[in-house]
Amino acid sequence: MLLEVKNLDAGYGFLHILRNVSLSVEKGEYVCLVGPNGAGKSTTLKTIAGLISPIGGEVCFDGETISGLAGYKVARRGIAYISEEMNLFSNMTVHENLLMGAYTVRDKQLEKNRLAFVYALFPQLEGRKNQLAGTMSGGERKMLGIGRALMCNPKMLLVDEPSFGLAPLLTEDVFDSLDTLIKEGGTILVVEQNVTKTLDVTDRGYVLEHGRIELEGPSAELARDPHVRKAFLGV
Ligand SMILES: Nc1ncnc2c1ncn2[C@@H]1O[C@H](COP(=O)(O)OP(=O)(O)OP(=O)(O)O)[C@@H](O)[C@H]1O
Ligand SMILES: [Mg+2]
Repeated sequence: MLLEVKNLDAGYGFLHILRNVSLSVEKGEYVCLVGPNGAGKSTTLKTIAGLISPIGGEVCFDGETISGLAGYKVARRGIAYISEEMNLFSNMTVHENLLMGAYTVRDKQLEKNRLAFVYALFPQLEGRKNQLAGTMSGGERKMLGIGRALMCNPKMLLVDEPSFGLAPLLTEDVFDSLDTLIKEGGTILVVEQNVTKTLDVTDRGYVLEHGRIELEGPSAELARDPHVRKAFLGV
């Protein structure tokens, strides 16, 4: 397994949110974590990314324990975390934002290759490379957030709510880009509110409720599960 989360407990101060969360993602897999608002999905990604220290349990990546490491060290190991907010530099251009994503890449040629890769994945960004990030549309900013994360050639992406705030057409574009990444050998753990779409595109999934994993399995099976259908799909 590339990522292995074992019996993770985490929260904020005295607020205990995640309880005994275990999940794993193999290299090349496209895995989702779905669940209702407040279930702890973002908390799970933040804990894996090293932004929150776990109370208990362990996170292993590429055969090594990474739980307890600071976020920047987790990033150096090859995990790119794309938060809901994306934290772009609004007063910098698209191009400059991408270069900021490559700050750990010392090799100029490698940086050039990564830029070419990101612009090929998101031609919309190349056409706007001199535009200030703050003036881009929501969907374009999402793409820029993902593009920036890809600049340091991560082994795995953690993506929080790629479709949040986006119209259906832009949502499709963003999901298409994640699909392309998977086809090119990438590995993704995605958190999403759009359960129908997510279960349709991913290989496997976990259902998180009240900080616990309640269900897991191939996405197609989860989509047919009576509990999932009732709770998330309204059918
Ligand atoms: N910084 C924080 N301090 C205190 N409580 C927090 C903090 N961030 C999140 N929480 C609480 O932790 C719980 C889980 O939040 P989390 O953001 O992980 O949920 P989520 O599953 O991502 O929900 P959503 O679908 O609404 O994004 C919520 O009750 C939330 O209020
Ligand atoms: Mg969230």
